[in-house]
Amino acid sequence: MDKIVIRGNGELNGVIPISGAKNAALPLMIASLLTSEPLTLGNMPRLADVEALKSILSNHGVDYQVKGKRAGDTGMTGQRIAFQASQIVDTTAPYELVRKMRASFWVIGPLLARAGQACVSLPGGCAIGTRPIDLFIESLQALGATIDIDAGYVNAKAPSGGLKGATYRFPKVSVGATHVMLMAASLADGTTVIENAAREPEVVDVANCLNAMGAKISGHGTTTIVIEGVTSLHGASHDVLPDRIETGTFAACVAMAGGDVLLQNARAGLLQEALDVLEKTGTEVEAGNDGIRIRRKGGSLAPIDFSTEPFPGFPTDLQAQFMALATRAEGVSHVTENIFENRFMHVQELARLGANISIEGQKATITGVDRLSGAPVMATDLRASMSLIIAGLVADGDTEVSRVYHLDRGFELLEDKLSAVGADIRRETAG
Ligand code: UD1
Repeated sequence: MDKIVIRGNGELNGVIPISGAKNAALPLMIASLLTSEPLTLGNMPRLADVEALKSILSNHGVDYQVKGKRAGDTGMTGQRIAFQASQIVDTTAPYELVRKMRASFWVIGPLLARAGQACVSLPGGCAIGTRPIDLFIESLQALGATIDIDAGYVNAKAPSGGLKGATYRFPKVSVGATHVMLMAASLADGTTVIENAAREPEVVDVANCLNAMGAKISGHGTTTIVIEGVTSLHGASHDVLPDRIETGTFAACVAMAGGDVLLQNARAGLLQEALDVLEKTGTEVEAGNDGIRIRRKGGSLAPIDFSTEPFPGFPTDLQAQFMALATRAEGVSHVTENIFENRFMHVQELARLGANISIEGQKATITGVDRLSGAPVMATDLRASMSLIIAGLVADGDTEVSRVYHLDRGFELLEDKLSAVGADIRRETAG
């Protein structure tokens, strides 16, 4: 199995281009199921999750075609891919496919809306918690779907005249369930009102794309989204928004190692809360038209306190990376994880590098140390793996991160981007 070896190598300086957001790319690909015409997505990141979803969608009848480069495209520019579901050939998403990627469960919404039925495997648990599906079921039932769960599968059927618009209030904010209800309601009969909707930028990106496909959605980006159902959607072209989690991750890398890096194409408004926390460490953040400049020249990091919240709060997907920063701060930091129940798996691994962290329930207390030392560590999930790389940037000696397939799911050209700004990082491919 591949591993990534990183060695503390001083400051990072230069430019890191930010890719299209994985968490928007995946639901946008799924939205292609809603129309028989092509949906062309630009700024698509080259990621293992995108590849996996391509094969899952092709099972339902989606063809895809990588489009030619445009002027100015480089190896670090996202791809343009056209997805077309001329016909839905299969409404079953089997366990072998869904278990590989949780988000593929989301096909339930468009399949139900366009084909009137869906049989989708329960996704099962994952490293960061049980991740239930009750909110998906309840919101689709509100649109008139009949749902039963049997032998590990969710069987959903639309009423004979199709899904019906309704008002539904989510008891808890869910990004995935909001995506699914948006897609399903776009083709429902009548008006749907989603209350307590997720406000994440990726939800807004998907709603914008659906509108370009002919949907009538308003209020996205607020807690109340209104969808007037239409009878069909058409093809469109849409560029995926920049990845705010990749942005925050590289910003944390620069804060940790020191230096001066432009995160090209990044948008500060997508992660203002995280940037505010970063500034509290003593790192300079300067948002401009071409991206965000992160700068820290000398001095120690100040400790930080933050709690993860739904957008616009501090994102849970940056919690591990910012905790890595706190391990070297001068003083005591406090981190509270409010979104997922088991998202401190990186703590044990950071401890192997010399970090001093104690956990009580959903709260972690991090006492900064003067020195981290390289060791073999294991990536536990996608974002947690990056916390080990960030710690490795300043550790003495080699940090060897195994199970790097987690990183390949969500970070495009990671070693290339970091070594281009001066990090000593390499991938060792096992025999
Ligand atoms: C998405 C993101 C993930 C991010 C998360 C929270 C993608 C592909 N993934 O995941 O990177 O960490 O948002 O920002 O976009 N819940 C229920 N019942 C449900 C659904 C969710 O109780 O039916 C709970 C979850 O267990 C969790 C919380 O709601 O505690 C939020 O989860 P949710 O927003 O749904 O996360 P995902 O959409 O899976």
